[in-house]
Amino acid sequence: MGKYSIDMEHYKRLAREVAAEGCVLIKNDKQTLPVRKNDKVAVFGRIAFHYYKSGLGSGGLVNTRYTVGILEAFKEHADITLNQELLSVYQDWMEKNPYDEGTGWGKVPWSQKEMPLEDSVVERASKESDLALIIIGRTAGEDQDMKNEPGSYLLTDLEKEMIKKVTKAFDRAAVILNVGNIVDMSWVEEYKPTAVLYAWQGGQEGGHGILDVITGKVNPCGKLTDTIAKDIKDYPSTENFGDLVRNYYKEDIYVGYRYFETFAKDSVLYPFGFGLSYTTFEHQSSIQKVEKDKLVIEAVVRNTGAIAGKEVVQVYAEAPQGKLGKPLRVLAGFVKTEVIEAGQEQIVTIEIPKTQFASYDDSGVTGNKASFVLEAGTYYFYTGADVRSAKATGSYEEVTTVVVEKLEEACAPTESFERLKPVLTETGTLAAGSEPVPLRSLSPYSRMQEENLEEYIYTGDKGYKLGDVVDGKVTLNEFIAQLRDEDLIHLFRGEGMSSPKATPGTAGAFGGVSENLKAFGIPVACCADGPSGIRMDCGTHAFSLPNGTLLGCTFNLPLVQELFVMLGLELRRNKIDTLLGPGLNIHRNPLNGRNFEYISEDPLVTGKMGAVQAAGMGYAGVTGTIKHFAANNQESGRHTSDSVVSERALREIYLKGFEITVKEGGAYSVMTSYGAVNGIWSSGNYDLCTTILRKQWGYAGIVMTDWWAKANTEGEAPAKENKAPMVAAQNDLYMCVADSVSNPENDNVMTKLVEGVITRSQLHRNAANILKFIMRSPIMLHKLNRIPQEELEEMRSTDDNEFIAADMVFFEQDGDDITIDGSYLDVKKGKTQVFGLIFHKMGRYDISIFAKSDLGSLAQLPVSVYYDNALSTVITFQGTEGEWVTEKRPLGFVFGLNHYMKLYFGANGLEIDSIKITFIEEIKMPF
Ligand code: BGC
Repeated sequence: MGKYSIDMEHYKRLAREVAAEGCVLIKNDKQTLPVRKNDKVAVFGRIAFHYYKSGLGSGGLVNTRYTVGILEAFKEHADITLNQELLSVYQDWMEKNPYDEGTGWGKVPWSQKEMPLEDSVVERASKESDLALIIIGRTAGEDQDMKNEPGSYLLTDLEKEMIKKVTKAFDRAAVILNVGNIVDMSWVEEYKPTAVLYAWQGGQEGGHGILDVITGKVNPCGKLTDTIAKDIKDYPSTENFGDLVRNYYKEDIYVGYRYFETFAKDSVLYPFGFGLSYTTFEHQSSIQKVEKDKLVIEAVVRNTGAIAGKEVVQVYAEAPQGKLGKPLRVLAGFVKTEVIEAGQEQIVTIEIPKTQFASYDDSGVTGNKASFVLEAGTYYFYTGADVRSAKATGSYEEVTTVVVEKLEEACAPTESFERLKPVLTETGTLAAGSEPVPLRSLSPYSRMQEENLEEYIYTGDKGYKLGDVVDGKVTLNEFIAQLRDEDLIHLFRGEGMSSPKATPGTAGAFGGVSENLKAFGIPVACCADGPSGIRMDCGTHAFSLPNGTLLGCTFNLPLVQELFVMLGLELRRNKIDTLLGPGLNIHRNPLNGRNFEYISEDPLVTGKMGAVQAAGMGYAGVTGTIKHFAANNQESGRHTSDSVVSERALREIYLKGFEITVKEGGAYSVMTSYGAVNGIWSSGNYDLCTTILRKQWGYAGIVMTDWWAKANTEGEAPAKENKAPMVAAQNDLYMCVADSVSNPENDNVMTKLVEGVITRSQLHRNAANILKFIMRSPIMLHKLNRIPQEELEEMRSTDDNEFIAADMVFFEQDGDDITIDGSYLDVKKGKTQVFGLIFHKMGRYDISIFAKSDLGSLAQLPVSVYYDNALSTVITFQGTEGEWVTEKRPLGFVFGLNHYMKLYFGANGLEIDSIKITFIEEIKMPF
């Protein structure tokens, strides 16, 4: 196998292992789980038949070859008997109450109506079975948040009734939660099921992972990456969550367990980091070394139970309150052990950089404004299996306040509000107080004006190609100097969705998108959603991975990295240079509709998981576009809402995961968020995209907008046309337009360039970022024909009917027609071919195929025609005994300019001379 070959079996094994390791066992009384030998299992809940492999929206559209849900996975376990009678009761009911698919994007229901359970059904099942599994499911997605309502964050009455009845009737009843994010758990106390397992959304191998855990093949070892509180109102962000205009982050850095452990311990049902095993562990820890920049903690983990298993060692820091005020616990490091046999132990060492528990002084109260500091005092450490039970490990003293990183203020708020701060009570405990948030003293605009960009004069075409830069013959700057202002602007405009210039069905294409840019030897790079597998809307299969929350809950960095090596290889094989993911926004509130894509309420877990995903994909020479930078913490009003947040909370919580992924994972692509951070929409936010990301973190990759994002000039409302602030902020790429040359969104970039509001130097600088990205991506090797033959052959060899990205051909409209010559077609049975179509006229079109077959008239020769992702028509030729015939069908409506056509040939024996796509009539747009 070559370096970039994909071992599918290995891919599946890894995904299954991750899906199992991410399961979090919350409760397991009466040894309900694992399933015992000879147990007869009764499965309740309709979601058992409709496993949610993922959430919805752009992150939920991986077209898999198969998905293994819970019931499918049982088939592998011939030794476990399922109560078939009960399953058929569900099947009968579901025939009359089919799965509600909703009506498309954004309209798919997030829960399904549950079957009302008759007492007799439960009674009978309990008599005939030993163990009940009750499956509860939720999905969620883009553009909407969860609500604190039944069917959303809360269970419905029918779901509760099911848990209640089944728990009453069975000795052992386990609830399995097939959800993307935590849900209300108050029912556990109320109905007392004997076991509860968060199984999350595990991708196409999810069912196998769950079965491995419930059968005991894998001892549960996942841990919660979020705190589960008693009530949604207990989360301090709930008060301001969902505001369509302004979302005040009043809780400041006190997010998740940082809040609960400091102020509201009693509101917690299940603490951060918690998760049971079928065995028990004992932790002993000590501080081995304290150095100037770091300390080393050693933990001895002993398996005190009877079954082998893995444990997660978590180290929490408690910094002195000092002048800044601190949470009582901050996760400072973690490591997952290997499998520890019963009675055995493993010693782990955890190195903790002091920056990990330093605080950002955004007010200057310590005398060190805009710096990460360690305030003088005693630093205590706690080690254990979750934030609440972690025991004292030791402490060390900082004699004076130490500055660990000196920065410059950036992205601070301009709106006054009171933020949470601990105050010491008379009894020595901490209570929730407040202080005014420090306001911005430095405008990003003045900083921008001071920017000293080198000027490169336009030289005209000197005949240099981008390959000459790769080969060191000319510098990148000399190369860019040849590009006209227009070219630089075309480079700024990425194309999509589903541009025919890149891999079919993907979200975006950028780089050599115009004829002129192409002539300079710039290839077209490609990006695709993400984050949990590749989304290709034209029907191409891809592998669906476990979702973000589940990945986080594994706490297993090397394992996740290995899985993402496989995803990297898959991206490379599909000629995709960057995945649109991982999603690194913080689980600020459990109601966020996209939490399933993100990892945790904690920035360290988020960042470490982001870093290993980026590093994993890096193996294949591709990367991940980390998103959504920054503070994309709600879906309601995601284009309109302004996150009003202190610089401290940004630095310590909301930006931290991105910082770790850039610095440790080497990510070189970033997607900005739709909304605003402190009044400036992210895509045009200079402090975010330049000051912090590039200058302070040393980032050298590209920054792209989220799809069709808006920007603003501070103080003004965001506007679709106002893209000049993106250029100035060093948001290199606008995503996306149908055609970068014709400026279909009427953006103001050229106008503002002519007016002198933005400069050629800024465009030149941004072009350099894009071209550097391209030069390090596989697409450049394709352009230069430097992909080894062996790899190309592998890319072309498909084991089923998928298209081959490397062979994609485009056809452009000439007059009324697009003509595809038969010589481009491979019409063998089972072959699929995809073509890019470039139209110049919008309207209604027909397709005609001019073909013959030597077979007799009883032969049926179907050709399926997919127009974009949808099946448009199937033209079934009959044998023509050698005569040429034309078959004509309506193809559909062309609204955008770039489309695909995919053909699938269902039988051998057809010969096609040509295919014509013909303009019929113009259609007036209703808007
Ligand atoms: C989402 C992004 C996604 C993009 C492209 C947007 O709606 O917010 O996360 O990558 O679409 O599909």
